[in-house]
Amino acid sequence: MGKRETVCISNEEILEQKAFINLIKELNVGKTKKYVLNTFGCQMNENDSERLAGMLSEMSYIESKDNEEAELIIFNTCCVRENAELKVYGHLGSLKKLKEQKPNLIIAVCGCMMQQSEVVEHIKKKFRHVDLIFGTHNMYKFPELLYNSLNSDKNIIEIWEEEGSIAEGMPIERNNSLKSLVTVMYGCNNFCSYCIVPYVRGRERSRSTSEIVNEVKMLGQHNSKEVLLLGQNVNSYGKDLNNVSDFAKLLNEVDKIEGIERIRFMTSHPKDLSEDLIYAIRDCKKVCEHLHLPIQSGSTRILGEMNRKYTKEHYISLIDKVRLNVKGISLTTDIIVGFPGETDEDFEETIDILEKVRFDSAYTFLYSKRTGTPAAKREDQVSEEVKKKRFEKLIIVQNKISREINDELFGMEFEVLVEGLSKNSTSTYTGRTRTNKIVNFIGNEDLIGKLINIRIEKIQTWSLEGKII
Ligand code: 5AD
Ligand code: SF4
Repeated sequence: MGKRETVCISNEEILEQKAFINLIKELNVGKTKKYVLNTFGCQMNENDSERLAGMLSEMSYIESKDNEEAELIIFNTCCVRENAELKVYGHLGSLKKLKEQKPNLIIAVCGCMMQQSEVVEHIKKKFRHVDLIFGTHNMYKFPELLYNSLNSDKNIIEIWEEEGSIAEGMPIERNNSLKSLVTVMYGCNNFCSYCIVPYVRGRERSRSTSEIVNEVKMLGQHNSKEVLLLGQNVNSYGKDLNNVSDFAKLLNEVDKIEGIERIRFMTSHPKDLSEDLIYAIRDCKKVCEHLHLPIQSGSTRILGEMNRKYTKEHYISLIDKVRLNVKGISLTTDIIVGFPGETDEDFEETIDILEKVRFDSAYTFLYSKRTGTPAAKREDQVSEEVKKKRFEKLIIVQNKISREINDELFGMEFEVLVEGLSKNSTSTYTGRTRTNKIVNFIGNEDLIGKLINIRIEKIQTWSLEGKII
């Protein structure tokens, strides 16, 4: 099969959407129209929501957190686990009354959940008060869809089954001006047997290096200090591009950009973690010493059934290579507990790898059956009770390791990027080390956005406290 070339949506199409932005802006002249945007799921969804917010801002909508005063309520959804879906249904149900009181209110649902036809059918049947439904592939068409919804009594539903091209040049309004999200590729080709992502996000499509570099340059000029390069599997970056680019080369390019002090990236797949990428983490000054490398299970048998394409031993050898090359690197991972057919022995292998690798922290998930994935069809599903027991054990083991690793940091000095006031405080400020550890300290407003050195004087499992030196 030949390689597909990733193409961008044409300028004309983008201009067409900008024309709809202007049409809505005209409708909103002299009015204060507010919107509430609810985002579920990963940072890629957050980045998509920043784009929705950018379009809404240009339409003269103002953001609000209060449904009662909103003219438009949007849900940008996630379907990676059932819990995320149930939350959305809960919110939609609770809006029925408000819609009855305010018939002009527009309720819109978009994002990953909408790429599943049974979900759209369910919403059409059970939540008839939803006005607008669109998916992940046509999000750039939001202005046109919203315009149509504003001018029609009918429900507007537009889902593209196939992934489209990449939309560049649409507006964006970022949640955080210091730390910016930059999506470098969309989609996933891996088809891990438990995962719905490849079905709802489509095949891998990389943005061009020049688009990414220009975006990061702009961020650097506008006082952004840190970029988080995003993709479902960033190590695959460039495989679909005609020119010979890869993620290590992209890191080297972004590393040269002025103004930006730190570069992070996620998520990486162990099967694609190249030596070049390890060297790029080591050699690029701004690339932080932190790697998020999901292992999912410590059992080689389960890894095979998950279609992960590596063994426990291979994963450990990768970690050894990373640690050998990048001094002081922190490591985090994702783990799924209770994949179908997981035995006590398989689970013990997961505990064993936690103890062998000693991750700084682990995101642990109960396996969630996702309709349409191979693992969901299996009859050897693990009972909820067993899953929960294993989950609790895993957390106890990991928390102990995280605490022990942090204990070793006592008295050490770290460079911290100051982010702002700590929650519920007027004098405690918070920031992160290059290794992504949260550090709280007494500071002042002038330090926000600056890199300062801090000596660690108190340890907690999830954060550190220190003094400016
Ligand atoms: N059940 C539980 N966790 C899942 N993840 C992906 N699919 C599922 C599922 N069906 C987890 C994986 C992935 C993270 C983003 O979500 O650990 O790395
Ligand atoms: Fe899902 Fe696997 Fe792709 Fe990650 S790499 S998004 S877990 S299919």
